[in-house]
Amino acid sequence: MPDPLPTNSFHELQPQQPPLIVLQDVRVAFAQEDAVTLVLDAVSLQIHRGEYVALVGPNGSGKSTLGQVMAGLCEVSSGSAIRPQWTPLPGVNGRGGGVAVIFQNPDAQIVEQTVLADVCFGMENLAVPRLEMAYRAERALTACGLSKLTHAQVGELSGGQKQLLCIAGALAMSPQVLILDEATSMLPPATRQQILQVVQQQHQSGMTLVWITQWMEEAAQAQRVIALNQGRVAFDGTPEEFFHPTLVVNSAQPGHGGGESSETKKTSSVCENLGFPLPYTLEVTKALANRGIRWQNWPLTPAALTRELSQL
Ligand SMILES: Nc1ncnc2c1ncn2[C@@H]1O[C@H](COP(=O)(O)OP(=O)(O)OP(=O)(O)O)[C@@H](O)[C@H]1O
Ligand SMILES: [Mg+2]
Repeated sequence: MPDPLPTNSFHELQPQQPPLIVLQDVRVAFAQEDAVTLVLDAVSLQIHRGEYVALVGPNGSGKSTLGQVMAGLCEVSSGSAIRPQWTPLPGVNGRGGGVAVIFQNPDAQIVEQTVLADVCFGMENLAVPRLEMAYRAERALTACGLSKLTHAQVGELSGGQKQLLCIAGALAMSPQVLILDEATSMLPPATRQQILQVVQQQHQSGMTLVWITQWMEEAAQAQRVIALNQGRVAFDGTPEEFFHPTLVVNSAQPGHGGGESSETKKTSSVCENLGFPLPYTLEVTKALANRGIRWQNWPLTPAALTRELSQL
């Protein structure tokens, strides 16, 4: 009898694949006047192909610096960082396969006047031949819902469309890893959701994603959470472990007169210890647990909550 497929760990499903990104004891220090600031301190982690990682942490904890180390945009002061390079792709013209980063402010990333010219900008630097460029540009713009705006002026786009254009430009470069550094923090909620959906669609098609965010609702949607605190990895595990290690215990004894059990009061989650509020969905599921609902799986996202409720 073959062993059943493991269901608890993403890595167990793909043990044969070497990691795409390997950071070993990485330190990054910036010299400022008479002091040296250690921004990343002894960071060791691996990112595997196809993962969807949320990178979270308080302001100034080193998230952006870590994203830039992963992308090769920031030199490490000590330790080693291995990442995929922009190389010729098998069977395709022009280079690809590196790590692309999307930043917070789309205006700072857009360089051309028209959508088509801008989506091609990154490919120009990868020596992608003209025909291949047109093909990749069309695919990327379609994936980002911008195909109707191919010939529009960049100045006509909304903030959300500009950020989608930046994502399209990155996708057109055919990266293996896409890092989004608080890419939706300047946008209204509906637009944030739209961009998250475009990026999640890419993940479903095999893209490796690192989504840097301060929004726990967004982190709850990832497969893995890495939390930084003062430049160190404070947590690396599943969203479930990050958001409610103690609630799993409580699920065996729900409905204690409407109040939280002593165990919940004694131990707070890693998320709360880092100073972040729990995702709103989890607050709802906790309240429902206190009213006697027994969760099979603790829902962390609105979609999971709807699914679980329909199965009660
Ligand atoms: N080029 C630099 N020179 C000096 N200090 C820097 C530099 N870049 C970042 N820092 C410092 O490193 C620390 C971490 O910065 P970083 O931007 O990586 O954190 P972050 O978690 O992304 O913060 P935020 O949530 O504000 O985006 C901060 O204290 C910042 O001031
Ligand atoms: Mg940052």
